Amino acid sequence: MSALFSEVFVATPTAVARAPARANLLGEHTDYNDGFVLPTPLPYVTTVAVGPGPAGMIEAHAARFGETKTRALDAPPAGDWLDYVLGCVRVVMQEGAAVEGVRVAIDSDVPMGAGISSSAALEVATLRALREWLGLRIDDVQVAKLGQRAESGYVGMPCGIMDQMVSSLGTPGQALFLDTRSLEHRLLKLPKSHALAVVHSGVAHRLTDGGYRQRRSECEAAASALKVKSLRDVDVADLPAIAALPEPLNRRARHVVTENRRVLDGVAALERGDAAAFGRLMVESHASQRDDYAVSLPEIDALVETALRHGALGARLTGGGFGGCIIALVEDPASWWPAVAAEHPEARLVYPR
Ligand code: GLA
Repeated sequence: MSALFSEVFVATPTAVARAPARANLLGEHTDYNDGFVLPTPLPYVTTVAVGPGPAGMIEAHAARFGETKTRALDAPPAGDWLDYVLGCVRVVMQEGAAVEGVRVAIDSDVPMGAGISSSAALEVATLRALREWLGLRIDDVQVAKLGQRAESGYVGMPCGIMDQMVSSLGTPGQALFLDTRSLEHRLLKLPKSHALAVVHSGVAHRLTDGGYRQRRSECEAAASALKVKSLRDVDVADLPAIAALPEPLNRRARHVVTENRRVLDGVAALERGDAAAFGRLMVESHASQRDDYAVSLPEIDALVETALRHGALGARLTGGGFGGCIIALVEDPASWWPAVAAEHPEARLVYPR
């Protein structure tokens, strides 16, 4: 990585840092409703090298695109990959860090458009590198919060905090149970008897599409109709009141409250090592995303159905939706995957690698 930086900028980087991608096991579209999530890091990594650059400017090179871009630190977002990096530089400057100018080199093997959060990996790696270079006194939770602020405040994607939290605090091979309201979190062991498999549907996912934003505002409308601060403040006992909301707010809110419940039930299932119960919750979560939250696609529903038919205990859309990946809980990915792939030539196994 230092070699890439030196080659592009003919200078030595001051700091180099890495951060992983993620998949979510349960708890979709709950994070911006102050709810519960259960993601895990995936072994795909973005590496960022930083060092001083020309005054008032950012110069950045992305190996993936073979492209170097230069922009003023006070420039508005341009709708490209540099926005994520510049957004991070700007939030640390807002926090009081003195940055005159910055050079950044990026390398990544996180697939893009797969819905496994290439953006959070880039933000967390950038913020870790800036923390080291500038000696910032920020912990891993603050790194996640600053990453989310860069993405929602500068890039313009109104995401929740799940992706940045798991990229910053997750441990490979374990699930991170996170309360997105208090940011309390703990690690949970995954079932020993089964393995996770993540499969890209072949349909590119683009979060900046309007669907995510629209779901988020529907949730806000549902919360205000229910006279609560957020949908975290209602639960399954409130389902009758939720059913009385106008369409589609009733279904959006029902997804969120039942999904929060599924995360809590899923945590209990993991704690008692009950893979079958966890799998059933994944199946219910997919149905809720498909029917109530309307973030799935026919191709994804078909892939989930095939995954289950070939023996997965559970399978569901993971990530922001409208394309991207499914996650499945299977006994042996090596024998399961060829059967699934035979029916879905457009699908790709993302994990295990
Ligand atoms: C995207 C967002 C997350 C979360 C998920 C849906 O990944 O970045 O904050 O809302 O979608 O669960």
